Amino acid sequence: MQSMNDYYSAVQLRADRWSSLREKLDFLSKNPDGRRAKTVHAEAAKLFDSLALIERYWAFPGTAAFDTMRRQFEHNHLGELAYAVSRVNRALSTGAYRRRTIPLDREGRDEDQDEVSLLPPDARSLAKPYFEVMIVDDVNEHQERWLKTNMTSMRRVEDDFIYEPVIVPSLQDALIGVLFNHNIQAIIVRPGLKLESDVELPILTRYLSRAGGAEELEDIANQDLGPELCRLIAKVRPELDAYLVTDRSVEDIAGLDLGICRRVFYNQEDFMELHLNILRGVQARYNTPFFTALKEYSRQPTGVFHAMPISRGKSITRSHWIQDMGTFYGPNIFLAETSATSGGLDSLLEPHGTIKEAQELASRAFGSKQTFFATNGTSTCNKIVVQALVRPDDIVLVDRDCHKSHHYGMVLSGAQVCYLDSYPLNEYSMYGAVPLKEIKAQLLKLKAAGKLDRVRMLLLTNCTFDGIVYNVERVMEECLAIKPDLVFLWDEAWFAFARFGPTYRQRTGMNAANNLRQKLRTPEHEKAYAKQQEKLKDADDATLLKTRLIPSPKARVRVYATQSTHKTLTSLRQGSMIHVNDQDFKGQVEESFHEAYMTHTSTSPNYQIIASLDVGRRQVELEGFEFVQRQVEAAMSMRRAISTHPLLQKYFKVLAAGDMIPEEHRESGVTSYYDPEQGWTDTWNCWEKDEFVLDATRVTLAVGGTGWDGDTFKTDILMDKYGIQINKTSRNTVLFMTNIGTTRSSVAYLIEVLVEIAKELDEKLDDASKMERLSFEKRVKNLMQDLPPLPDFSYFHPAFCADPHTGEGDLRTPFFLAYDENNCDYLDLNGDILLEIEKGREVVSASFIIPYPPGFPILVPGQVISREILAFMRALDVSEIHGYRADLGLRVFTDEILAKQVAKKTNK
Ligand SMILES: Cc1ncc(COP(=O)(O)O)c(C=O)c1O
Repeated sequence: MQSMNDYYSAVQLRADRWSSLREKLDFLSKNPDGRRAKTVHAEAAKLFDSLALIERYWAFPGTAAFDTMRRQFEHNHLGELAYAVSRVNRALSTGAYRRRTIPLDREGRDEDQDEVSLLPPDARSLAKPYFEVMIVDDVNEHQERWLKTNMTSMRRVEDDFIYEPVIVPSLQDALIGVLFNHNIQAIIVRPGLKLESDVELPILTRYLSRAGGAEELEDIANQDLGPELCRLIAKVRPELDAYLVTDRSVEDIAGLDLGICRRVFYNQEDFMELHLNILRGVQARYNTPFFTALKEYSRQPTGVFHAMPISRGKSITRSHWIQDMGTFYGPNIFLAETSATSGGLDSLLEPHGTIKEAQELASRAFGSKQTFFATNGTSTCNKIVVQALVRPDDIVLVDRDCHKSHHYGMVLSGAQVCYLDSYPLNEYSMYGAVPLKEIKAQLLKLKAAGKLDRVRMLLLTNCTFDGIVYNVERVMEECLAIKPDLVFLWDEAWFAFARFGPTYRQRTGMNAANNLRQKLRTPEHEKAYAKQQEKLKDADDATLLKTRLIPSPKARVRVYATQSTHKTLTSLRQGSMIHVNDQDFKGQVEESFHEAYMTHTSTSPNYQIIASLDVGRRQVELEGFEFVQRQVEAAMSMRRAISTHPLLQKYFKVLAAGDMIPEEHRESGVTSYYDPEQGWTDTWNCWEKDEFVLDATRVTLAVGGTGWDGDTFKTDILMDKYGIQINKTSRNTVLFMTNIGTTRSSVAYLIEVLVEIAKELDEKLDDASKMERLSFEKRVKNLMQDLPPLPDFSYFHPAFCADPHTGEGDLRTPFFLAYDENNCDYLDLNGDILLEIEKGREVVSASFIIPYPPGFPILVPGQVISREILAFMRALDVSEIHGYRADLGLRVFTDEILAKQVAKKTNK
């Protein structure tokens, strides 16, 4: 049996225990008196013990059936038992138990039904969705049966869903249950619940630290447990519904924070009322107003007299030449195509009906105050938010290696940009993220220069392409302490899924905004603030930089997050969302936001994308938790497999938190989420504390040891030879991204491929001549050691920068100056440019220069070109540099135009 440390999650452990048990029982039923029978019997007994602790949290097979199996084992009825266990295994892996009752004895067998799980998706979509309801009450066996019977006897044919109850006795069991059993959608908290669980299985009890930690659980020992449970679950699984049955009076309950509680029942046993509420609660998440309207629309016979020949497939069905398009896509996509102006459905630009409702549901799901859909990606969302909030000459602090849409947003808005440098990871030729100290230092500098009132926004990428995640709440707290109405734009293009993993959620913009809003209102916060103010009365900047600053209770929480739903959740390409949690949105921003939305949104938005956003939202509210959990499991098993395989270790290295985050930003000291000796680290702790953490679902693999650079490895090896697609590389790394659709078998395939590559390399080196070997070693050294240091942002030329001390620059003027050819020159990257710099000329870029990889602008218009930047560009040896023409060189401004600009500025 594998040790507990080998399992990242209890879900994996459970699946593995069941399949081990099946193997053991199979063996025993065939070899009851064999040589190994005794050992195997003991192993099976251990598996039963271990499963007994686990199964109490799941409705299938259920504690009664489990106890029956255990009795069969004790009485040596191995034949029947092996059969039952194999049925359980099969039903668990196919999910058949969700669709029907699974008989565990041979008499109950129904051969035909056994294959229901293999039904085509059409038929499966007609089955009633299944979920589990957790009842929390400390009851005896007899009462448990009574409760279960009462619940299941409420079922009606007309119910849209079907559920099974699971009963646990205590608050702690309930917390473990909701974090372990992803089938749970609703919780009934009854007055009899106790506080503590008697389960002592670390892989289960560690869930408790997620749900508040030992301290919080100790604090509630004397409280009314029911409401406390509802409140605690709201922190970890806010999408669930709870129903509180209480024997307290209405007055006792009123005014308590009831978290996810949808309804309180005052000590009544009205099971039908409870049943209807449970179904209604799930229905509220299942509802997809726009998708439903679109389906209905597609069924209506309409005559098309608007400009859209593809609508209802007319231009295809009548065609002689494009019939294959109709066959490939099927009819529904065309039946559902219509024009917003035709009036059949709601309009994205002025939503009043089903799109508005769908956006409101998304807002609930993602924890925002307002949510807006976008059908042209986060590139557009970013520009909308920037335009809505930033006026010309406002100062914006921007992470320099952010997505190019932000840089273009700065051009459009006419902002004064302060670029912030991320910490470099020179060894891997990639950037990390911007340290909080650097952000604070820039804000303090602006404050000292008397410009704080012009500072409008801080714009950061969370998480970065490579998976570095900020401590969002802390960044906002400390920045608000310096500038109390700062607006935050968190580019969460890669982080939409994060809301649905409890560990991840704490580091999302929306969750942090909600926490902050609550925190700022508390008397404890007010006191802490006053105390710190007193202490820091005459503090200098160095002290402020070292101190964890507390914002004023009057600070305004103004947070925006943009997410590419299509990158990490279910949505058609380009489906994105803007989430708003801005206390001043209604009063100050709504109008300008509307204008910005109009500026950038197509008047012909794609309805299919909007519908997919609506359905994607349904999915995350009902199974986001499960899918994110599985994704993390898949990524973790990939990390583990690569870092423990002896052959793979020779050529590859999975980068861990310790490789990608410098020590000073990892307060927990955790360097890796997996250690071959100690097993898994509980990531919760570092996610709570550290300045930066690593999103483990993005696996960066150093491949320099193979002698291939990242780009060659990606294109020539992974893609051309094995059909594996990835999109991000650095000089010596490739990035494997998992997503909510990644399966264990796709991970297994990747490992197989890596092993094959390593074997081939081994063989090649075995047969290599001395020269060939030396050449290989040189290539590896060149890739792994001789890396050009990543350059910092240099500075804006005085023609575009008002104040070299604070450094903010204007991108818009140089961007448009470059439209006139006469203002520009080209200088050869390998010759002229260096000579000019040697002569003392400030050579200024006239365009964005974006090498891919790493994919962020190494130069922006108006920026002075430094020797470091040139050295980096020369060493990059990438074929793709956007904005650079190898035949002409770098586009730079002439000295004349720069002098003219400076004079113009001075005269102003
Ligand atoms: C950090 C970041 N923001 C925004 C975007 C743009 O998103 P979209 O492709 O949805 O337009 C990307 C795209 O890769 C990105 O990496």
